[in-house]
Amino acid sequence: MSGFVGAQHEFHDDEFVRGWASRFEPTAPRIQLFDMILAEVEKLGKADSHVVELGTGPGYMARHILERNSDVGYEALDFSDVFMQVARETIDDLCHRVTFTNADLMTKDWPAKLSKQPDAIISTWALHDLGGQQPVADVYARSYETLPAGGLLANGDFIKPDGTDWEYEPGRFSIDRHLELLREAGFKDPKSLVHLEQNTVDPTAGQNYACLVAVK
Ligand SMILES: C[S@@+](CC[C@H](N)C(=O)[O-])C[C@H]1O[C@@H](n2cnc3c(N)ncnc32)[C@H](O)[C@@H]1O
Repeated sequence: MSGFVGAQHEFHDDEFVRGWASRFEPTAPRIQLFDMILAEVEKLGKADSHVVELGTGPGYMARHILERNSDVGYEALDFSDVFMQVARETIDDLCHRVTFTNADLMTKDWPAKLSKQPDAIISTWALHDLGGQQPVADVYARSYETLPAGGLLANGDFIKPDGTDWEYEPGRFSIDRHLELLREAGFKDPKSLVHLEQNTVDPTAGQNYACLVAVK
């Protein structure tokens, strides 16, 4: 069996965004990814860590992390005002701990828009939407420049699994290639901690995502 894996999004359309957000369920493996990223943030061992999420979307990971760790400060970066409004509604009573930053990850200057230097840059299911390997490589490079020594980059994103006959949209590529791009950005020892919802036989657009982590 073979086919195409990818998705089209209307990030600035209110109806699309609200429909997408209501269909997105925080399933067990998705929560596992959030917990794994939170554990990496906590490993930094820094009180009051400043955590920046790239492509906060409806804010499910943000809410998950803010509820479980009362010390971190959070910066939610997105280029969609509509998604940002949904994130405000999801994060709700915890919004006072969040800085909302409108920036486009396709530009070079998004780090200059951050409110302060992050200790961790995290992301889930967002960077593949930049449309290819080069924009992801650019985000990895900007993240490396922006983080302090010892700072964390954690990217949980859709990948193209090894051994598949299916064609994938260009933003979804192999774990090995992600690790190569992270090394090229300057990170010494990037790792993939897990490959969740593995399916090479009849994959959907919501399956096959990895947790890629790198420390500067
Ligand atoms: C699937 S959502 C992320 C879900 C989120 N991690 C959560 O847990 O709720 C992807 C987000 O990436 C954002 N995004 C896509 N391309 C972007 C870009 N070029 N710059 C900034 N944000 C972008 C979209 O607007 C969307 O809000």
